[in-house]
Amino acid sequence: MIEVERLTKRYGPTRAVTDVSFRVEKGEVLGFLGPNGAGKTTTMRVITGYIPPTEGTVRVAGFDVVDQPLEVKRRIGYLPETPPLYPDMVVSEYLAFVGRIKGVPRADLKNRINEVSEKCAIADVREKQTGHLSKGYRQRVGLAQAMIHNPEVLVLDEPTAGLDPKQIIETRELIKGLAGQHTVVLSTHILPEVSKTCERVVVISGGKVVAVGKPDELTRRLQGFETVLLMAEGPSGEIKERLERVGGVSLVEQHETSDGRATFEIHAAKEQDVRAELARAVVESQWKLLELRSSGMSLEDIFLKLTTEDLTEQKSEDTSQKSENGSSQT
Ligand SMILES: Nc1ncnc2c1ncn2[C@@H]1O[C@H](COP(=O)(O)OP(=O)(O)OP(=O)(O)O)[C@@H](O)[C@H]1O
Ligand SMILES: [Mg+2]
Repeated sequence: MIEVERLTKRYGPTRAVTDVSFRVEKGEVLGFLGPNGAGKTTTMRVITGYIPPTEGTVRVAGFDVVDQPLEVKRRIGYLPETPPLYPDMVVSEYLAFVGRIKGVPRADLKNRINEVSEKCAIADVREKQTGHLSKGYRQRVGLAQAMIHNPEVLVLDEPTAGLDPKQIIETRELIKGLAGQHTVVLSTHILPEVSKTCERVVVISGGKVVAVGKPDELTRRLQGFETVLLMAEGPSGEIKERLERVGGVSLVEQHETSDGRATFEIHAAKEQDVRAELARAVVESQWKLLELRSSGMSLEDIFLKLTTEDLTEQKSEDTSQKSENGSSQT
C-alpha cells in the first residue's frame, strides 16, 4: 500500500533523511520509531505529498506522490505534528469544513462527523472553538479531521503526544481497531508505544533506517543479543541445524531461500563473537559460505540513542559520523 524507495530529503545543506526504503502492506499498522530529529516527520510529509523527495520515490496505493498528488491525498488521512486547526472555528464546523474539502458527500457529512467525534472522544467539545481547546483535545480533533473522509491510509505523526493516560489507551485501541480496514503509519519516539499498537516497526535514527522488525523481535534484540547474518549454499535445513549447535548461538532464523541459497539470522549471546565458529561449521560441512557479517549496530545501542539523545537535534555532520559507527542495514 505504501512503498518508500531510496528516499533522501535535504533541506538546503541539512540531510534530514538518507536512502530510506520500506513498505507498508495493506491493512498493516507500521510504527515509525526514532529519537527527536531522526527524520520521522520529514518522511511522513513526503508520503503525504506535502513536500517533494530530493531523491527516491514514494508510492501510495500505486500512485506516485510527485506525479499524482491528488490521487494520493484522496486516499490519505494525515495527522501532522501540530494539528492544523483554525482557532476561530467551532469543532463541528471545522470538521464539516475539512470533510467538504476532502470530498465527503454532503449527505454523509453529518454521519461522518458523528462517527469520528465518537471514535476520537471529542463529542463533549463539539461546540467549542478549536483555539480554546486543551492540547490533548486539539490532538484528538486533529485525529478526527484525519479520519473524516474515511481514508484507506492514515499517517499519524505522534498521535498520542499530549494525551492523558486514559486517552492514550483509548487512542491505541482506536488505532488497533483500524488495522485490517485501513493501513496506518504512526510515528513515536517511545518503544512501548509501538509494541502496544504496531505489527511491525521501522527504527530510524540520524535519517537512516537502522532496524526493521516485529516489536517482539526488536525487544528480544534489545535484551542483548548480537545478530549475525549468514548466507550459504547447501541444504538449508541441515545448515540451520548445524548452526544451532554452534556454542553461544541462541536462535537461528531462516530467511528467504532461492536456488539452494539460504540466509540465516543468528542470535548469539552478547559479547560473544560467534562468527569464526559459524564460518568453520559451514566450511567443514563442505557447504559454500557466501556471506557472513555482524548485522551492525545493536538495537540496544539504538534504544539508548532513542532515550538519551531526545534533546539533541541531529544535523548533517552528525549523520555522517553515525554511519562510520557501523550502522549497516540489510
Ligand atoms: N523545514 C526544515 N528546514 C531545515 N531543516 C529541517 C526542516 N524540517 C526538519 N529539518 C531537519 O531535519 C531533521 C529531521 O527532522 P524531522 O522533523 O523529520 O525529525 P523527527 O524524527 O520528526 O523528530 P521529532 O521526534 O523531534 O519530531 C532534523 O535535523 C531537522 O532539524
Ligand atoms: Mg517529528
